[in-house]
Amino acid sequence: MGRSVSCCGITCSGKEERLLDARVSQKNIGAIYDRIAPVYDILGKLTESRARSRAIELADIKDGQHVLEAAVGTGLAFYEIVKRNPHGTNIGIDLSQGMLEKARERLSKLSGAHYALDKGSIFHLNVEDESIDILVNNYMFDLLLFEEMGKVLKEFKRVLKRGGKLVLVNMTEGERFGSGIYDFIYRISPATMGGCRGVALAERLQAQSFRVETREYYQQMLFPSEVILAYK
Ligand SMILES: C[S@@+](CC[C@H](N)C(=O)[O-])C[C@H]1O[C@@H](n2cnc3c(N)ncnc32)[C@H](O)[C@@H]1O
Repeated sequence: MGRSVSCCGITCSGKEERLLDARVSQKNIGAIYDRIAPVYDILGKLTESRARSRAIELADIKDGQHVLEAAVGTGLAFYEIVKRNPHGTNIGIDLSQGMLEKARERLSKLSGAHYALDKGSIFHLNVEDESIDILVNNYMFDLLLFEEMGKVLKEFKRVLKRGGKLVLVNMTEGERFGSGIYDFIYRISPATMGGCRGVALAERLQAQSFRVETREYYQQMLFPSEVILAYK
């Protein structure tokens, strides 16, 4: 079950000093995910499905909206987004062709769906300024260097409409027994973890003047996730 923490209650000051920085370069991420793509959904569902479902709930998509999922992966969340928004705009981007192929395969099962799935980078979104109502981004900040995060948040801010919604899911620092196992594996072999380690985004969002409404902690098969709802 998730635990809800109101943003002002978050004690994340100084948290980053305790967290690991990324050890897999962005240059190698595409190749890693091309390789992982065929089996990605197994762990993606076993350890992350609750947090991903909660993100979709918090996104509260209304048909007709402009929705962007950045780093769409194999489309586990994008399928749910497109299903809820048949008459709106649904854009999914990712840098891994292997992950995108899986996403296209999944979305092909939805009849009458309206979407675009394109290769692209979260650092330079091919999307107009202030055009997006809801931006969803799951398990991607946990791949980035701390120094890269601000740049991506600025890009998210550029494309979001005023008052637009940002829904983020990240692997985070474990808060319960056993959850440290995944950061332990990362220390030994970051690629085994697909380059993901625990991060905490709420304070960074506030620093970029996003209004953080909620931050929830989820733990599934010991895997620790945070789900954040924020507004531009
Ligand atoms: C851990 S997977 C998460 C996939 C999906 N969001 C999910 O929740 O299942 C990370 C994804 O981020 C993508 N990614 C990493 N860096 C990226 C970048 N700079 N631009 C676009 N996608 C990126 C990877 O290719 C991969 O598909």
